[in-house]
Amino acid sequence: MKRPKISIIGAGNVGATAAHWIATKELGDVVLVDLNEGTAKGKALDLLECGPVERFDLRITGTGDYTDTANSDVVVITAGIPRKPGMSRDDLLKTNAKIVGEVTEKVAKHSPNSILIVVSNPLDAMAYVAKKVSGFPRERVIGMAGVLDSARFRTFVAEAAGVSVEDVHGFVYGGHGDTMVPLARYCSISGVPLEKFLPKEKIDQIVDRARNGGAEIVNLLKTGSAFYAPASSSVDMVEAIVKDKKRILPCAVHLQGEYGIKNLFVGVLAQLGSKGVEKVINIDLNSEETAMLKKSADAVQSLVDVLEA
Ligand code: NAI
Ligand code: 2OP
Repeated sequence: MKRPKISIIGAGNVGATAAHWIATKELGDVVLVDLNEGTAKGKALDLLECGPVERFDLRITGTGDYTDTANSDVVVITAGIPRKPGMSRDDLLKTNAKIVGEVTEKVAKHSPNSILIVVSNPLDAMAYVAKKVSGFPRERVIGMAGVLDSARFRTFVAEAAGVSVEDVHGFVYGGHGDTMVPLARYCSISGVPLEKFLPKEKIDQIVDRARNGGAEIVNLLKTGSAFYAPASSSVDMVEAIVKDKKRILPCAVHLQGEYGIKNLFVGVLAQLGSKGVEKVINIDLNSEETAMLKKSADAVQSLVDVLEA
């Protein structure tokens, strides 16, 4: 049986780290693409040479030529600039829209049946660009943010409650920005509601920290943004797709009326399998959560409006 072919566009921090996780999990052959061909080729070769030690049998190649990506099953788009201290994700809008538009056009030409996982920021607007440029159906253009934001939330909950991260379940809705909506009400520790373990003030602090999780790391790194958890979160989605796992993960999905939102990428729970987004999950939101989701969707819409103007 043919191994899945996974192309990663952008061989920077997130792209190269995603290639690393894909290789160690042996999810498929990897093609690493970058504007800087030497970076792509050098990192791919370096990673390939881990094979005998880590025991993976994969093809890992670097390139600047999109013909090498032809017939990819999944393409992870990480090309773009990351933010620096003092910048918001939205400050990246026009620069990254141009980059994501250009790379998506080439990806779609060479892999018309691929599933795109968009990572570049501002995430929800970039997913919108990728969908528009590729012309792919919504099943095959998915934004990565919710898995990361939820992983941050779950990490902080596990730390505060003194329990294993494995037993903390929870997810974040909304756009990948300060208006994201961590749904603490749906968070549980082994099925037991979170408030049985933590007081409300602590939960509120955790929600706030998760919302600002990206900025916390930018302020520490100073030269760029987070990449280990973003890469691992992207690979979680790749794995769900190439293994047809039918996982239910928070993803930025092109909503077409669900939650009262139309023609916009916003983070919600979705089922991921070999066809990409196989189902959008509808959950009940109370009036406060609905208002927060609307505010978050409005923030995404305002970015899309700038791009469409
Ligand atoms: P980075 O600067 O380390 O890597 C970006 C790479 O893209 C560079 O190697 C650059 O040469 C390449 N690139 C730029 N233009 C290109 C083009 N036209 N074609 C091919 N390659 C091109 O940045 P990093 O840290 O890897 O972040 C990448 C993007 O992902 C940023 O926009 C960042 O904000 C975003 N990000 C999104 C997250 C999310 O949750 N959705 C989490 C973390 C990062
Ligand atoms: C993050 O949340 C920068 O979006 C990136 O770390």
